[in-house]
Amino acid sequence: MIGKSGSGKTTLLSLIAGLDVSTAGSIQLFRHTIDHMDEDARAELRSQYIGFVFQAFHLLPGFTALENVMLPLEIKDMVDAETIARQLLVRVGMDHRLGHYPTTLSAGEQQRVAIARAFSTNPPLLLADEPTGNLDTETGKKMIELLFELNQEYGTTLILVTHDESLTRRCDRCFRLTQGKLEQI
Ligand SMILES: Nc1ncnc2c1ncn2[C@@H]1O[C@H](COP(=O)(O)OP(=O)(O)OP(=O)(O)O)[C@@H](O)[C@H]1O
Ligand SMILES: [Mg+2]
Repeated sequence: MIGKSGSGKTTLLSLIAGLDVSTAGSIQLFRHTIDHMDEDARAELRSQYIGFVFQAFHLLPGFTALENVMLPLEIKDMVDAETIARQLLVRVGMDHRLGHYPTTLSAGEQQRVAIARAFSTNPPLLLADEPTGNLDTETGKKMIELLFELNQEYGTTLILVTHDESLTRRCDRCFRLTQGKLEQI
């Protein structure tokens, strides 16, 4: 999904994830109508179906790389949380930084951890809001490759918001948001 700054891309992702509520219309997420759900019900649905990758990484500062990836798994009471988290961190090339805290990681490394965290619970839907926005061009390219690779491996539906129009060629479907109106391009 592309669109000018302020066109509503982040707002739309927030609505899809039930982080924001709409003032009009209806949102159906995996056959659930979320409009009248309370906060807890939306959070439950979100934990079941949705993974996030943000522009600003949003790792928890008091947790190591490994703990950040383990957290969503532990919330879901998965017994093998640590094994899964370790495997994913190896997959994203971060096995040498498992015990590091976010402030001691480079931006690219933080985004690798955030990508591992997003895939840890194997969500059917992954929302990525300008995941390369805070990275230099080369690191950004590596991160996009990683995102697309994991997307294929896990069979996830990825909704990618980007300002990089060249990426539209890599996506199955492309949309442009203009003043709140979404059109396929
Ligand atoms: N919490 C909020 N409350 C009220 N208005 C908001 C809120 N968040 C964003 N907006 C407004 O909604 C519009 C769309 O913002 P949004 O952040 O979705 O744009 P965007 O397409 O993601 O832009 P960018 O490319 O800069 O990230 C903007 O006019 C913004 O000021
Ligand atoms: Mg935005």
